[in-house]
Amino acid sequence: MVSVLKIVFFNCFCAFFANTAASRVIELSDRFLDIHKEGQWLVMMYAPWCAHCKRLDPIWAHVAQNLYASNIRVGRVDCTRFTAVAQHFKIRGFPTILFLKGEHKFTYNGDRTREEIVKFSLRLTGPPVQEITKSESFDMVKDTQGLYFLYVGERSGHLWDIYHKTADAFQPHAFFYQSHPAVVDKHAPVEKVPSIFVYKENVHYNFGGYNHSDLDKLNATVYNWVNAERFSTFPKVTRGNINQLFLTNKYLVLAVVEENAVEDVAPDMLEFRDMVESVIKKQRERYHQHFQFGWIANPELVNSIAMMEMPKPSLIVINTSTSHHHIPDDDPSKLNPHVIEMFLEHIRNETAPRYGGNGVLVQIYRSWFEMRTTLASMWKGNPILTMVLFGLPALFFSLICYGVCCPDILDAGDEEEEEEEDSSHMKKD
Ligand SMILES: *[C@@H]1O[C@H](CO)[C@@H](O)[C@H](O)[C@H]1NC(C)=O
Ligand SMILES: *[C@@H]1O[C@H](CO)[C@@H](O)[C@H](O)[C@H]1NC(C)=O
Ligand SMILES: *[C@@H]1O[C@H](CO)[C@@H](O)[C@H](O)[C@H]1NC(C)=O
Ligand SMILES: *[C@@H]1O[C@H](CO)[C@@H](O)[C@H](O)[C@H]1NC(C)=O
Repeated sequence: MVSVLKIVFFNCFCAFFANTAASRVIELSDRFLDIHKEGQWLVMMYAPWCAHCKRLDPIWAHVAQNLYASNIRVGRVDCTRFTAVAQHFKIRGFPTILFLKGEHKFTYNGDRTREEIVKFSLRLTGPPVQEITKSESFDMVKDTQGLYFLYVGERSGHLWDIYHKTADAFQPHAFFYQSHPAVVDKHAPVEKVPSIFVYKENVHYNFGGYNHSDLDKLNATVYNWVNAERFSTFPKVTRGNINQLFLTNKYLVLAVVEENAVEDVAPDMLEFRDMVESVIKKQRERYHQHFQFGWIANPELVNSIAMMEMPKPSLIVINTSTSHHHIPDDDPSKLNPHVIEMFLEHIRNETAPRYGGNGVLVQIYRSWFEMRTTLASMWKGNPILTMVLFGLPALFFSLICYGVCCPDILDAGDEEEEEEEDSSHMKKD
């Protein structure tokens, strides 16, 4: 009796908390169309029947909680009831996450985690480049942002214009700041003004080697540099960020590992992952220009790239401009930093064997491979449902085909049977 009471109490307790968190999410209707240009909105467009939306619900409540102190209002629209809203924003799938700021609309395509959605919103909430005026602010920015770009100098001149335009283009994907030499002080190694830095893993890296006299070229260099540097040195690669990583036009060097249900990597795989990471950590200067390292634990994603069941742990290198991939000949257990470095050299001078790509045949094979794996995993999860879903229509379809196209075969079959009977009769005789 006591335990039952306890459970009831506990349930109420949880429900209470879930409710206060959920109440931060504003339930919007058709009237949202009148007010969406006022202020800033982070809105989830959902449908009640969509499973992905249900999974996003608790995360959305946390996002709203996190952004409560900001001037971003967090809401959601049931698009099956308020179809005018869905039409106005041209919603094609559920859930769709939009950030609305005046006339501007940004669609979120990253991973649906609280951290990533909150960061996305905070990047978009201010102007593309935010000013840092106090030296102490750096510590907070370093802590919360982890990775940011920094322009040191006055807000004028060619480099500033280009930096500002680039920041505008990449605002959904990275934080951009501007500050002055006296404020930056000991935080970044400012040698000349103006200059640009990227901060990641506790280090400021300088953007150097540019030519001020050729503006078009300078624009392209800054743009490409920001595009390539906006990732941490060894990120986790997921469905949410792989498309962005492909835009770097570098080779993606991925440690393929396995994760359990609570996203912990097994200890033996951890060792392998750290070993791969050590290659880029120790030799950043040598490799980071052409190679983006990272790790991946999503088997469907990596298998569909490799078009095979990738062993875990293992290593795969993807050419992001051609979608070819390279896999070392050595057994994964024999891989060490030295072997990996040799492998990367072979890839650089294009002597390593390559697989896959984006040809028509490869794409057909990839679709077939994905269909097969989807079917296989459905079969593992629920064989009866899979049979009913695919078996019955297939059976009907083949029966219809059989009936329509092959009446002769039916007759021919009968004849054969008769013949067989005849021969058996003969034997008996
Ligand atoms: C910068 O580019 C201009 C024109 O392309 C060239 O004449 C000049 O030598 C370059 N300067 C440096 C330092 O590379
Ligand atoms: C700067 O370069 C990028 C990439 O090459 C390009 O997309 C952008 O339009 C350029 N901007 C200007 C102002 O030329
Ligand atoms: C990818 O492959 C193409 C064609 O072989 C090559 O030119 C390019 O350098 C490779 N690497 C990257 C990072 O695109
Ligand atoms: C490519 O690089 C590897 C490793 O450094 C080297 O052994 C090989 O001779 C190179 N091949 C060519 C064609 O340069």
